Amino acid sequence: MPLQPDSASDVIGVAAADAALHEQASALAQDLGLPWVETTAAAYSAGLQAVLWLGAEGVSLQAVSRRGHAPGPITVDFGGATMRHRRRGGQNELLGKAVGVGKKSALAVLDATAGLGRDSFVLADLGCSVTLAEREPVVLALLADGLERARRADDSWLNAVLGRMRLHRGEAATVPAVAFAGLDVIYLDPMFPERDKSAAVKKDMALFQALFADHNTTGDAVALFAWALQQDVARVVVKRPVRAVSLAGRQPSHAIVGKAVRYDVYVLRSLGPA
Ligand SMILES: C[S@@+](CC[C@H](N)C(=O)[O-])C[C@H]1O[C@@H](n2cnc3c(N)ncnc32)[C@H](O)[C@@H]1O
Repeated sequence: MPLQPDSASDVIGVAAADAALHEQASALAQDLGLPWVETTAAAYSAGLQAVLWLGAEGVSLQAVSRRGHAPGPITVDFGGATMRHRRRGGQNELLGKAVGVGKKSALAVLDATAGLGRDSFVLADLGCSVTLAEREPVVLALLADGLERARRADDSWLNAVLGRMRLHRGEAATVPAVAFAGLDVIYLDPMFPERDKSAAVKKDMALFQALFADHNTTGDAVALFAWALQQDVARVVVKRPVRAVSLAGRQPSHAIVGKAVRYDVYVLRSLGPA
């Protein structure tokens, strides 16, 4: 049954993976306005759906189930094997092509729906400078932790990519005007509130859909899209499941089509000289 929580505090608790982190985890719980829990079993008994764990390795989000077999945990690990593997995959090229990598050097992109920052990371790895806007406090806790760990890593490639990523905590529409100077592209990857079960929705995004459905309605995505189209940028790019209708029924200028996802490109003006 789809969850329709009133707020994250109804469904998510915060816990520490070891005693040394209790104080830090309880401060995080207070900051996020979430209940503190000792164990996943206690979270289940309290009727929570997920636990945000603070551990020595960083912050992770674990779905809670009766038998403890829930998928997860979700964590942001830019230096991990999945991101390195994705780097070599053709999917990155499609995203790069959609925003216009190669048409202008050092493209400036606002990722208005940053989530776990994977698409932002791909764009930064392709040389774009990326502002990441994320408004959901629990997602922000995961994302900020992942960015911080990658920044501290002893890895020059990772440090260079991270140097092109800047986090904005809050609504995309509240990104300060200075980030819009020279901005080329606004990128949107809204959630699919209609509970899309296709391959395009990975397990972690399915959990996000369940936990944050009330904040991510179709109307909300349409409003963000309308806002994006009004900004002074050359392109707005919208990620969609490959067979979905275009957002708000608005036909794109062109689309870059992959196996599971499609990038609808709305060209508003030329990207300018390379
Ligand atoms: C499907 S996820 C994005 C996944 C992301 N592309 C990635 O690669 O990890 C959508 C995210 O956008 C955020 N979001 C939706 N509307 C927003 C808005 N108006 N401003 C900031 N964040 C928003 C949601 O909280 C959610 O975390």
